[in-house]
Amino acid sequence: MLKTVRTGKLARIVHLKHVSNEAGNHVFALLGGDCPTGSIKYYSVLGMLGEMARKGRLVGCTDLFGSSSGNMALAANDLCLQLGMQFHAVIDSRIASGKRDQLIESGVDIINVTVPDPVSGYLGARISRVKELVAGREGADALDQYSNPGALLAHSQITGPWIWRSLQGNVDAFVAALGTGGTFGGTARYLLRCNPSLRSVAVDCRGSVLIYGRQEPHLLTGIGAALVSSNVRLAYEAIRGAAPRVVDDQTAFRRARWLRQVEGIGTGGSGGAVIEAAIGLKREITDKNIVVILPDGERDYMCSVHNSEWMREQCMFEEFGHEDQTFLTGTGIYAIPR
Ligand SMILES: Cc1ncc(COP(=O)(O)O)c(C=O)c1O
Repeated sequence: MLKTVRTGKLARIVHLKHVSNEAGNHVFALLGGDCPTGSIKYYSVLGMLGEMARKGRLVGCTDLFGSSSGNMALAANDLCLQLGMQFHAVIDSRIASGKRDQLIESGVDIINVTVPDPVSGYLGARISRVKELVAGREGADALDQYSNPGALLAHSQITGPWIWRSLQGNVDAFVAALGTGGTFGGTARYLLRCNPSLRSVAVDCRGSVLIYGRQEPHLLTGIGAALVSSNVRLAYEAIRGAAPRVVDDQTAFRRARWLRQVEGIGTGGSGGAVIEAAIGLKREITDKNIVVILPDGERDYMCSVHNSEWMREQCMFEEFGHEDQTFLTGTGIYAIPR
């Protein structure tokens, strides 16, 4: 039987007036917060479920288990409900409190991992927990965002064409966060087919093994992986024309707050990191259209990134003890040549 699911309206792509500059560069942002369940991960999950369906893995499947930092679980829960399945989210204690609240409000079954794996950290511990939960359980399967290529496919089929059409083919550079690789890898793959000279810039966080190169504690969520998965390897193939970027917690959070103040656009820390990377890139080029993806909106970060008290507690206003309203520098960025 053919089952259909909601795709929702495609996310807005807006011109960022204050991020664009006099060198003739224009920066456009796809607002992932517009997607159903509030993040671009909705399309990743759509693609992964499509891939599982094509392989016959959804026949007789009643329960799907998946490791998530929040957004994937919110999307998976929504799509599983539409398909008559139950989603179980394996999260860890670092999840943004707002995401955790959303999961609870949505009635998702939450399994919280509290002890990191000594080598692969919380991410490795979450993935092992999913395997244990699925093993030998009838009707259960794993929704594996680290190796299911459907996550990239969805962005090659939905996000990439949407960006290309919306900007009538005037896309010179693309900047997106690299977590599991689905969003960046799939979208960049499509855009590179349309424009082989595209600069595609992957954005990672300080403390991640992907581009920064070693695991260190960090507060950013959604990015900052502790292992290189097969989807990340696929995404690496789509890094082209400019160095990938690494942004630290403080810079990313403050940039997200700055964006909200100057453009009125809310996003989380990974969105802030992407904006910081776009600002770094636009200083190196002229007369180009740069498109970025902001993975989600501000909704779930009102108690963290967009809360001054929380920012102070986490020492994110280090130099001044308060926010510097003219924060524009970008000292926390590292460009890693590949
Ligand atoms: C807030 C946020 N930013 C960035 C990412 C990275 O996206 P991807 O996993 O497609 O690489 C995620 C993934 O869950 C996320 O939730």
